[in-house]
Amino acid sequence: MTASGTATARVGAPVLRLDGLGWRVGGATIVEGVTLDVREGEFLAFIGPNGAGKTSLFNLISGIVVPTAGTLALDGADLTGLPVHTRARRGIGRTFQTSSLWPRMTVAEHVRLAAQARNGGSHRLWRRASPYTAEVDGVLERTGLGHRAGATAAELSHGEKRKLELAVLLVGEPRLMLLDEPMAGVSAEEVPALTELIRTLHREEGRTVLMVEHHMDVLLGLADRLAVMHHGRLLALDSPDAVTADPVVQRAYLGEGL
Ligand SMILES: Nc1ncnc2c1ncn2[C@@H]1O[C@H](COP(=O)(O)OP(=O)(O)OP(=O)(O)O)[C@@H](O)[C@H]1O
Ligand SMILES: [Mg+2]
Repeated sequence: MTASGTATARVGAPVLRLDGLGWRVGGATIVEGVTLDVREGEFLAFIGPNGAGKTSLFNLISGIVVPTAGTLALDGADLTGLPVHTRARRGIGRTFQTSSLWPRMTVAEHVRLAAQARNGGSHRLWRRASPYTAEVDGVLERTGLGHRAGATAAELSHGEKRKLELAVLLVGEPRLMLLDEPMAGVSAEEVPALTELIRTLHREEGRTVLMVEHHMDVLLGLADRLAVMHHGRLLALDSPDAVTADPVVQRAYLGEGL
């Protein structure tokens, strides 16, 4: 059975539904008329030229910005006006295109702080007898960072930084993970391990993944479907093979040299 055949058998009911989603700001239309369903357990990749609106769409889904048109729903329940933290509690977690780490904090401290914040607890890092030690160890083990627990974020390679961002995300146990260019800045040697980690979080831990990525070779091995964004709109949404063979996509996107 092919990888995509396995994936098709695995994905389930629609979990996230976007309906006519749009965002206008300062007189400019950034996202327009995006309608799509994401199925439980699916890996949906977003591609498109710079400025196509991919990050803005993730901002709309995670709640960083409020849509000026359309609606979105999780498991049939409307999310449209809900703030980021409520969406996070319902299982929507994201990473950012640019690094969101604290350079002088250690790897373990990042994860512990995320666990404390999740529980609404104290942010005091100097409390050594943390109730989160086992959890922190477990998350670092799952992300391959166990041996780097005491390193500061500044000491990490780009690939390790991206793993730490995933570790922080995993503390919230999101069922829907939005990953915005997780390979950005990562050296070619570190891409395979990071790809494997994302594959494990998706396949073995059963999380639904939405991922923006410019590395097509990475996506073709991971994605069940590819969504192509162009000028804020959804230009195509289909299997990776169908999308890359689509002449409209080739003209609008692949033809631009990506
Ligand atoms: N807060 C904002 N105010 C005004 N314009 C914005 C704002 N945020 C994004 N934009 C514009 O919206 C467009 C889409 O930006 P966005 O970051 O969503 O694109 P992207 O597809 O993620 O691009 P990239 O591949 O470069 O990350 C860009 O032209 C950007 O300048
Ligand atoms: Mg972006």
